[in-house]
Amino acid sequence: MAKIIGAVGTSHIPAIGKAMDQGLEQTPYWKDFFDAYPPVRNWLNEQQPDIAVVFYNDHGLSFFLDKKPTFAIGAAPEYTNADEGWGIQPIAPITGETELAWHIINNLIEDEFDVTVCQELRVDHGLTVPMTLLWPNEEYRKIKVIPVAINCERHPMPKPSRSYKLGQSIGRAIQSWDSDEKVVVLGTGGLSHQLDGARAGFINREFDLYCMDKLVTSPEALLGYTNADLTETAGAQGVELAMWLAMRGALEGDVKLLHQNYHIPVSNTGAGLMLLEPS
Ligand code: DHB
Ligand code: FE
Repeated sequence: MAKIIGAVGTSHIPAIGKAMDQGLEQTPYWKDFFDAYPPVRNWLNEQQPDIAVVFYNDHGLSFFLDKKPTFAIGAAPEYTNADEGWGIQPIAPITGETELAWHIINNLIEDEFDVTVCQELRVDHGLTVPMTLLWPNEEYRKIKVIPVAINCERHPMPKPSRSYKLGQSIGRAIQSWDSDEKVVVLGTGGLSHQLDGARAGFINREFDLYCMDKLVTSPEALLGYTNADLTETAGAQGVELAMWLAMRGALEGDVKLLHQNYHIPVSNTGAGLMLLEPS
């Protein structure tokens, strides 16, 4: 059976992509942020996962306010990226993985998660920034990717507990796939941030660190939050915690924390990084 070898949570702030494009990683503003990534890159290099299942949110590139699936999954052989207005260089196409994608889709539907299936999908910074951050120099091209998009832009959004359960269901599906492929699960986004309105720039360091702690030890402690709670406590875009919950749900059970980092601010955001292994 396929094996989930670990999971990574990371923020996906567009400014990270621009900093990489411009070679600013070691400048004073960026150094502490980027210096946290080599241990995760090294772990990925040692483990050599074949497939990455990536929980992300689409900020308006493929799904705008007129059509917004609550949960969408890619079943395409390739995913293209496009300029979505943040000034990041578009990256070369990402390789898809269709066989496991369809296995997951069939299992999700059986499990009463009626996802939107995308056989064509353009992917935005929510997916591309983490891919280039974790596998720089186009090394991400060797990994096969299954994108899973969670609506974090237009109300009504899925409850945080529902995103966790989606992750659990996908975790079970991966582990029932008859294959010896190694799978890593990514959850991208967050942590606390608000991009516009009266509270633009709002960051809650204490809450972010609390969430990172609970994600490791007892994710159930986070499942009672509503999206209104998260908006109040972590800013309007703090709802992107959904992807970290889905990532943690896929691992289920006890986990080993191999690496973590928290850095503020990057742009307007509390930037988190976490590497987990099943224990
Ligand atoms: C920023 C952060 C995000 O997660 C995002 O999707 C867009 C912008 C930011 O801090 O600028
Ligand atoms: Fe985002």
